[in-house]
Amino acid sequence: MEHSEIKKENVIRIIVTAGPTQEPIDPVRFISNRSTGLFGYLIAKEALKRKHNVTLISGPTQILPPKAGKSVSIETADDLLKALKKEIKNADCLIMCAAVSDFKVKQTSAKKIKRKGQIKLELVPNKDILKELAGYKRHKLFVGFNLETSNLVKNAKLKLKDKNLDLIVANSLTKSHNPFGNNMLDIKIIDKYNNILHITHKSKSFIAYVLLDKIEELWYEIKEQGEV
Ligand code: CTP
Repeated sequence: MEHSEIKKENVIRIIVTAGPTQEPIDPVRFISNRSTGLFGYLIAKEALKRKHNVTLISGPTQILPPKAGKSVSIETADDLLKALKKEIKNADCLIMCAAVSDFKVKQTSAKKIKRKGQIKLELVPNKDILKELAGYKRHKLFVGFNLETSNLVKNAKLKLKDKNLDLIVANSLTKSHNPFGNNMLDIKIIDKYNNILHITHKSKSFIAYVLLDKIEELWYEIKEQGEV
């Protein structure tokens, strides 16, 4: 498809979530993860290049948001869920690239915790955002990501099913393959029909391009079948 000539009816309203979440411990400290946000921002950029309608919801990163489209900043997983509940009704596709912190501190301290001695932090799991949004899923494409240290494809397929996704981008973290801050990746894109696309040693921009092709293919297929 010639992107500059995209027809109005082919514009997909896409939400991309990106970056880490930060879960406060006290006013100066937080729990987070190593996500830089780059992959999500490149996906948003590729979608904008194709003239789709893009909302980027991002945790704290060092990257400037794209000039086009809408940008929303969040900090915690709860913020992200709140922002998504607001935006999801007006979207066709959710690309859930954010590295959501699995845990938050049960009781945050309003004052800075003093270094008086040993402390214990009680952590509780954050809500599973994709599952929380299941009620909005009808007639929408949901794309998830996963990062595993073992059993990549098996775990990805389980998550695809468990979170009722249309696509999952499966990424492994091993000694020789560390996606954090690294531009070249080996990934697998698995769809709900169990087709697997193996991509070896390609840049995040290239993968963003392939992913958008796959999303467009699935979306236009759904539209043609009159499911939307
Ligand atoms: N995700 C989410 N809500 C969470 C955690 C993750 O919606 N609380 C999303 C991520 O954005 C990603 C997908 O779920 O698209 C898979 O993330 P991952 O961290 O691999 O899954 P978890 O369900 O947290 O499983 P695990 O126990 O392996 O961490």
